[in-house]
Amino acid sequence: MAHPDWPRAWRAALYGPLGFFARGSRPADHFRTSPLVGPELAEAVVELLDRVDVALDRPNRLDLVDVGAGGGELAAQVFALGKRFGGRLRVRAVELVRPPLPAGVDWSAELPDQVTGLVIAHEWLDSLPCRVVQRHEGRIREVHVASDGTESLGAEVSSPWLDQWWPLSVDGQRAEIGDPRDAAWADLVARVAAGAALAVDYGHFAGARPFAGSLTGYRAGRQVPPAPDGSCDITAHVAFDAVAAAAGPCELVTQREALAALGIAEEAPAAGLAAQDPLGWLAGASRAGRIAELRDPAGLGGFHWLLCPRSAPISLVRA
Ligand SMILES: C[S@@+](CC[C@H](N)C(=O)[O-])C[C@H]1O[C@@H](n2cnc3c(N)ncnc32)[C@H](O)[C@@H]1O
Repeated sequence: MAHPDWPRAWRAALYGPLGFFARGSRPADHFRTSPLVGPELAEAVVELLDRVDVALDRPNRLDLVDVGAGGGELAAQVFALGKRFGGRLRVRAVELVRPPLPAGVDWSAELPDQVTGLVIAHEWLDSLPCRVVQRHEGRIREVHVASDGTESLGAEVSSPWLDQWWPLSVDGQRAEIGDPRDAAWADLVARVAAGAALAVDYGHFAGARPFAGSLTGYRAGRQVPPAPDGSCDITAHVAFDAVAAAAGPCELVTQREALAALGIAEEAPAAGLAAQDPLGWLAGASRAGRIAELRDPAGLGGFHWLLCPRSAPISLVRA
């Protein structure tokens, strides 16, 4: 029997009844994302939310929607840090399986119809399945896969997306066709009636695409071959230039730049503090270490922040 194509196998492996996320696997069990480092990412999101709030002239209801919320850590932290918005703030985690959330944070398995405020998709786009193709003897062929990860080449593929964003010119080159992600992002942005949508993820751009594609697996903190058997997360980097073009004028910066613009900077504790206030020094040094991790250009700091404002001028780099 022919193997399924990658999107079918990927979807079943993550989101099917026995899939990795549908069974309740939490990112925190398998890999480290920025919300899991500490509260500093949520502090930056609250600062951005404040800019959205001002741009919308402090609406009666201010939404913060965390799409693909995983274990709910970011939503819970923003809720805890968002007291300044008073009763106007509504925080919602959108996730397939309800994560543990504090009272006051809503959950839904469905995307909201209409948002006034900020939608954030943190490491969501990379988890959306897409077709995988390989150039073989001058032709672009779809890659099929068995549940143990064994691959075979299927029919020839013609894709305008590939022609525009990721043309394959050498035999052996592979790509993930990002059109479902572009469509998902455009759909999410369109749900923002007023405010902004923010995608944060790892990705690549034309001119620097990975030769063999970026499809991979993660299990228990390790990168593993992407066998679509439900035992590991399956992910591929996001073609950010394509996603950015799908939703009108947007701002695209690195996480390092975004955090600096939102006031999150690592500052070593004052000299001599360790002698006067050892616990204060420890807290300051820990915070500086967490921020350094979030800003590391070779790690989380190299992630991309794509901000798409809707009906109001909202910017990451212009306060
Ligand atoms: C890589 S995890 C990121 C989790 C979290 N945002 C973080 O950064 O720690 C992607 C999450 O998106 C969720 N997800 C994917 N598609 C979804 C959908 N259509 N609706 C809700 N959640 C979805 C998955 O279940 C998974 O928990």
